[in-house]
Amino acid sequence: MRVVTDPAGLRQPVARPLVLVPTMGALHEGHLALIRRAREAAGPEGTVAVSIFVNPIQFDRAGDLAAYPQPLDDDLAKCRAEGIDLAFTPEPDAMYFPDRSVTVLENSLSKPLCGATRPGHFDGVCTVVLKLFNLFQPDIAVFGEKDYQQLAIIRRMVRDLDVPVEILAHPTLREPDGLAMSSRNVRLTPEQRADAPRLHRALSDAAAGDTRDDILERARDAIESPLNRLDYLELVDAETLQPATDLKRPTVLATAVFYGDVRLIDNQPVPAVS
Ligand code: PAJ
Repeated sequence: MRVVTDPAGLRQPVARPLVLVPTMGALHEGHLALIRRAREAAGPEGTVAVSIFVNPIQFDRAGDLAAYPQPLDDDLAKCRAEGIDLAFTPEPDAMYFPDRSVTVLENSLSKPLCGATRPGHFDGVCTVVLKLFNLFQPDIAVFGEKDYQQLAIIRRMVRDLDVPVEILAHPTLREPDGLAMSSRNVRLTPEQRADAPRLHRALSDAAAGDTRDDILERARDAIESPLNRLDYLELVDAETLQPATDLKRPTVLATAVFYGDVRLIDNQPVPAVS
């Protein structure tokens, strides 16, 4: 496995197809599932690349950035064990000029859900992902459905800016009790960790509801607990991410919940009713 810290090191030619899995590290089984999907797509002769970069410009809370776990040696060991060909682990200074002044702005899909309470977050995501696409020039990039809004926004960016990359989506990996795997889960106290599986239970049970109001009411009742604080709960159109009233189209039930200062997100696709 080649480990590159300097963006210039990515200019060397690699075997195609090149499949990129962008991450912020603290790799868990969810990331590893994306990496395995990437290997399938690359084939044994192709190149699987992983970027590990805690992107400062997508954090809206300084405390969240400071507390973000960065076990780089463990991450690189996991990458080696997965047979990754190329790991990119830049320092922030190598990615951003001090006087950088060009940003990717997304003006529609990034407004609701996480975008409403995390101003600038998705612009930071789009900017770093476009930079990674430009640096690697991958044929394919793999993203998780756990971050449903992020995935939709990246697809939109690729479409609107003609970025020559194919986006593959991977379903959410969960702990045995249903909690969506996340690098932030390690920051939960044992009590919070024991309470958090209610998110997935609530979303998957409520998804069987008959109307928008029914679905949202059921989900809210089942999510709320004395240990958490609801950031948002919304049923949105799976494509536009606008509030959904028409259940004849595919929708997504999405939530963000604070346990202390740890913010967890989850979502549940709701198939169109016929
Ligand atoms: P990060 O949170 O590290 O996630 C990296 C990728 O792993 C994302 O595509 C995310 O959706 C996926 N992922 C995380 N948890 C998952 C799970 N439980 N099941 C399936 N996939 C999961 O998302 C980011 O980093 C950043 O915003 C990034 C795209 C790298 C830009 O900085």
